[in-house]
Amino acid sequence: MAFWNRRKSIDAAAEIQPEQRLKATLSWPHLVALGVGAIVGTGIYTLTGIGAGLAGPGVILSFVLCGLICACAAFCYAEMATMIPAAGSAYTYTYSVLGELLAWIVGWSLILEYMVAASAVAVGWSSHVAEFIHAAGWPVPDQLLHGWMSGGLIDLPAIIISGVVTLLLVIGTRESATVNLILVGVKLAALVLFVVLAGQAFDSSRFTPLMPYGFMAHVDADGVKRGVLAAAALVFFAFYGFDAVSTAAEETKNPNRDLKRGIIGSMVLCTGIYIAVAASALGASSYLDFSKSGAPLVYILENLHHGFEAQLVAGAAIVALPTVILVLMYGQSRIFFAMARDGLLPQGMSTIHKTRGTPVLMTVATGIVVAAVAAVVPLAKIALLANAGTLWAFVAVAACMLVMRLREPNRTRAFRSPLAWIVGPFCIVGCLYLFLNGLPQFTQEWFLLWNAAGLLMYFLYGASQSRLAQQAAR
Ligand code: ALA
Repeated sequence: MAFWNRRKSIDAAAEIQPEQRLKATLSWPHLVALGVGAIVGTGIYTLTGIGAGLAGPGVILSFVLCGLICACAAFCYAEMATMIPAAGSAYTYTYSVLGELLAWIVGWSLILEYMVAASAVAVGWSSHVAEFIHAAGWPVPDQLLHGWMSGGLIDLPAIIISGVVTLLLVIGTRESATVNLILVGVKLAALVLFVVLAGQAFDSSRFTPLMPYGFMAHVDADGVKRGVLAAAALVFFAFYGFDAVSTAAEETKNPNRDLKRGIIGSMVLCTGIYIAVAASALGASSYLDFSKSGAPLVYILENLHHGFEAQLVAGAAIVALPTVILVLMYGQSRIFFAMARDGLLPQGMSTIHKTRGTPVLMTVATGIVVAAVAAVVPLAKIALLANAGTLWAFVAVAACMLVMRLREPNRTRAFRSPLAWIVGPFCIVGCLYLFLNGLPQFTQEWFLLWNAAGLLMYFLYGASQSRLAQQAAR
């Protein structure tokens, strides 16, 4: 069978052999926590400031726009995840709906969304730790706190946190999810504290002018792309993670009920919190000031003379950002797992540990790459590249949902997206628009290079080794 015709059966999830299945241990509160654990992180804690620098108070519109696009994507994900409750997320849906080659491209893009984003969050975490080390006066050389592309030698804290998270994932999903649940509570409490304190200093005059850099993305004389849409292409980073819930489909006890609650619940909760945090920040302080800070929420509280509470928020970021790395790495190892099980990556890597029920080898391999990237590459560049991959994954999932509506309108859907023919196209157009107009040119170029490398790998290995290719050859 030619590779462009290879499609997995939609019912393949039910056909996976028991010894190749992941253990079903999760229910919907775990999934909402998994989603919130992945969503609330470096985006709201740090990129809010940089985004405000690109759009002024209009960054609130960037948040609203990203919230709308991601809400549409969440509906598409929920419909597809309940129809195909197997590990692999957008990759698996694309394989069943659009075929092997596009599935490979989506899987390859998801590496950016999960693994590269996990590296970005590890670097963000490390800079908070570096602040603490400096404040405490510990004699740790700066060279060991920043990667060589950021003016140091190696980012040691980022390597350490990647290792710790890998260990948690190897120990087992349930344990990791319980730890995640506690830490999610910590970071949400810190954001609520911020909203309450900053809200007391709210001054609506700080919202005028609303869009000092305009709405459309444009490159200014200093070479920086600004405008509400440029900021949206950056703060988009803050929103994804809800889709990581769908990567846990196979480990979910009652996928039909739990997946839709997990995906949509975590998405709606986080969008509400973000808009509250961004509005409080913009109302309490001039964006011209806090946009220069690497820890804008902490900076604003300090300026409002809430020094102790500022340290609490900083501490919460240090304690809780690892949950984001955890969920992203969890999602990545499951996507690799699904790709290996399909024969597109070496099959030996999908082996599940006998007693733990987790893909140990794949998890450790993911951890090593996350640590290696985090050790040397700076945060901003990684975050934008991660966004590029995610935007394409969202396009693919929305396309899958629409194609399935046409191809199999009568198939049972435990969750049906409302207004599918508005939601799906809005998600596709929104994501493509952010990719083409919002992202800087260097990110687009890196994304194309990344996919060229991916295609080369597919034709050298996956095209001939895939399970479907092998079945057809027999
Ligand atoms: N949404 C995640 C974050 O903001 C990736 O850290």
